[in-house]
This record gives sequence, structure tokens and C-alpha cells, in this order.
Amino acid sequence: MATIPTLTLRDGEVVPRLGMGTWHMGERAANRAAEVEALRLGLDNGMNLVDTAEMYGDGGAESVVGEAIHGWRDGIFLVSKFYPHHASRRKLIAACDGSLAQLGGETIDLYLLHWRGTVALEETVSTLEELVRIGKIQRWGVSNFDVADMEELVGVPGGDRCAANQVLYNLAHRGPEFDLLPWCAARGIEVMAYSPLDEGRLPRHPALLTVAQRLGVPAAEVALAWLLHDARVAVIPKASDPGHVRANRAAADLRLDAEALAALERAFPPPRRKKPLEVI
Ligand SMILES: NC(=O)c1ccc[n+]([C@@H]2O[C@H](COP(=O)([O-])OP(=O)(O)OC[C@H]3O[C@@H](n4cnc5c(N)ncnc54)[C@H](OP(=O)(O)O)[C@@H]3O)[C@@H](O)[C@H]2O)c1
Repeated sequence: MATIPTLTLRDGEVVPRLGMGTWHMGERAANRAAEVEALRLGLDNGMNLVDTAEMYGDGGAESVVGEAIHGWRDGIFLVSKFYPHHASRRKLIAACDGSLAQLGGETIDLYLLHWRGTVALEETVSTLEELVRIGKIQRWGVSNFDVADMEELVGVPGGDRCAANQVLYNLAHRGPEFDLLPWCAARGIEVMAYSPLDEGRLPRHPALLTVAQRLGVPAAEVALAWLLHDARVAVIPKASDPGHVRANRAAADLRLDAEALAALERAFPPPRRKKPLEVI
């Protein structure tokens, strides 16, 4: 098994490009043990980037992550997100404390504004910078920001210290390739592709199944390998099923040949013009 590919953030931190999402985890007590096990299986296999949010299961997903990484803290890159309505100075510090309590840790590696709200970016950025200064987070970023939002962000004091933008990006949603991906790459801002399996729909897509069948691998593996093909992108599939975790991990070892890439290009054509960023 090859090691998980990495990318280097602007501040020199080396981050795995294949990690794990946690949306819909922590919603049902009956699923908790299986969710903890799935995350541990991924960690055992080097998928050391874990993405969560205060929104997921109302703190439940952060708590599942906290249990899964207990005793594992070193070497794990932990990402969490705060609600836009917690983006003011007064509420953000409390939200961060709430996330740290659920996660059972002292710091969050990357803390993201989940989507853009009504609080002025200046206020959010200055509070995030303060959270960095006091060590509660290591760095910060945004999610669901299109190019115009990013332009505005880097225009506010400290906004150019944004480390990452997490966006909907997969074979069925290639819009970011037109402008957002190159924009972020030019500034050293990491792009994290969320819903890389299109929330579980892509592994059932006929075109993907045809390519996967020829290669003798699960279709999900092909979808993730295609995203990993671009060294600028990190990918965070969510899986509670251990078989799914193993297939997703295997994507890091799959090299798509020219025939596979051409077939995917035909079935999922790249954007030819600007498309507003799609969100879930
Ligand atoms: N920033 C944002 O606004 C935002 C929005 C959406 C998502 N996210 C983040 O991105 C993560 C991933 O996105 P997502 O959860 O929306 O969707 P996803 O990762 O594209 O798909 C998850 C679904 O695919 C299934 N699956 C996983 N691996 C599979 C495999 N190898 N074969 C077949 N099916 C497989 C999962 O089933 P099982 O669970 O049963 O294994 C689950 O139903 C989230 O969990 C979250 O952390 C962020």
C-alpha cells in the first residue's frame, strides 16, 4: 500500500490529501460504535485528515471524532467548521470552545467558516486570528466561497491568511475547475473537495461503473482517484461502512490510465464557462 499523498499548506504544514468526512455521524446513538470504528479504521490506514463541523449532529459528529481520535491526537489533522451565525467576535470564541469540548482536544488544526453569512468578514477574520494567537486553532479557512467571495476575503485585513476553501467538487460537479481551483492554487490556498462521491450517488453512475469494471475496482475508488489526480486538491469522503473505508483508502493507490481518464472526460465534461459555485 502506497502512502497517502500530501500537500503543503502555505505555512509549511504537510496535510494528507485523502481524509474522512463525518456529516450524518453522531445523529443516532445506535450507530455511534460503528462510526467510531470506521474512523479508527481509516486512521489505522493513514487517512489522518478528519473533517467535521459543529452543525453535524448538533455537536454529535465532533463527539464521535473525539472518541475515535482519543489517544491518537499526534499526526491527525483535525478540521472543524462554525456556523455563519456564530461568526461574530462574541459568539465565535464560545463556538470554538464548544467544538474543542466535543472533540476533547486543545486545538483545531483548521477552523472553517461553514458558509458565508451576514457578519462582516473583517470581524470574523480578526477573531479567527485571535484564536490562532491564543492557540485554540492552528489556522483558519472558509467553505462554500466562490471567487468573488474569496476576492473580498483577501481584501480585508488578515484575510490573505486564509489557508483553505472547502467546496462541492466531484466528477458530477466540476464547476470549480473553471476559475476557483486556479484562483486558489495561485495563492496557495488549499481546496478541499466535499461530497467527493456526490453523497453516495457517483458509485452507482453507469459511466463510472463501466470504467470501474474494466479496471476491476469499485466505482467509488475511481471517483476518488480522479479527484486525487489533481495535486492541488484534498478529498474527504464520508464512510461508516468498513468496506467503504477500505475502498476509499485504496483510491490513493489507483492510477487511472489514459483510457479511463478519456472515458470520464466524455461522461463528465469539464465546465466551458463560469458557473456559480454549487452548494449542498
Ligand atoms: N463544507 C460543507 O458545506 C460540506 C457539505 C457537505 C459535506 N461536507 C464534508 O464532506 C464530507 C463528504 O461529503 P458527504 O458526506 O456529503 O458525501 P460523500 O462523501 O460524497 O458520500 C457519502 C456517502 O457515500 C457512501 N460511500 C462512502 N464510501 C463509499 C464507497 N466506497 N462505495 C459506495 N458508497 C460509499 C457513504 O455510505 P456509508 O456512510 O454507509 O459508508 C455515504 O452514504 C462530509 O461528510 C463532510 O465532512 C462539507
